[in-house]
Amino acid sequence: MPTLLHLDSSADRTGSVSRTLTARFAAGWTANGADHAVVRRDLHADPLPHLATHVLHWAPHLRRPDETVPAAAEDLQRTLIDELLAADVVVVGAPMYNWSLPSTLKAWVDNIHVPGTTAPFGDGPQPMAGRPVVIVSSRGAQYGPDTANAGLDHEIPALQQVLGVALGMSVYVVTAELTLAGRIAAMAPLAGEAEASLAAAEIALDAVVARLA
Ligand SMILES: Cc1cc2nc3c(=O)[nH]c(=O)nc-3n(C[C@H](O)[C@H](O)[C@H](O)COP(=O)(O)O)c2cc1C
Repeated sequence: MPTLLHLDSSADRTGSVSRTLTARFAAGWTANGADHAVVRRDLHADPLPHLATHVLHWAPHLRRPDETVPAAAEDLQRTLIDELLAADVVVVGAPMYNWSLPSTLKAWVDNIHVPGTTAPFGDGPQPMAGRPVVIVSSRGAQYGPDTANAGLDHEIPALQQVLGVALGMSVYVVTAELTLAGRIAAMAPLAGEAEASLAAAEIALDAVVARLA
């Protein structure tokens, strides 16, 4: 059964752009057939705890003999990793918070990036290699190369490094920019650009889901 792991992390439960876009992607996924399953994890509604110990960063066989992990934390990490390993495709709702990713999403990343388990350590395994992950990032401002904020996006590069480089996944990035144009008066002249960015994001997501079906 082809399975999509659908993650959201926006703290906005009602007007979130990233939630709307990931829901669109998930709807496109299930439209491919009754056998297309979705496993949903809302990292804001059901936040993960911070790592109980640094030892969780290492696969069990890479831990020192004196290093221990609380059983509940070990079980939770195993659940999150198993959920990831079982996914054929992953979609990640990733609003930009303070030029980076929401702490709720970071807690998930800290749990699933484990050298020796999900990322290679020496010549170890890279089980997610080549598996598609779609990062859907909404942001209040704009961060393209010709903008005043060029180089200040510390979210997408971090996610690409962990998911694309360390885990070897095939990363697709879709962004909706200028989402604060409707809220901040000074940004009102950018409303048209904001609409265009959202429309382009929808088209890009539809194309990705059609390709990955
Ligand atoms: C805590 C917080 C921090 C934010 N920091 C930034 C930021 O650094 N840069 C930016 O462009 N927008 C920032 N924003 C605006 C959000 O990126 C924007 O509202 C986006 O649409 C949020 O995604 P959502 O619509 O899925 O909730 C911030 C919003 C919040 C709530």
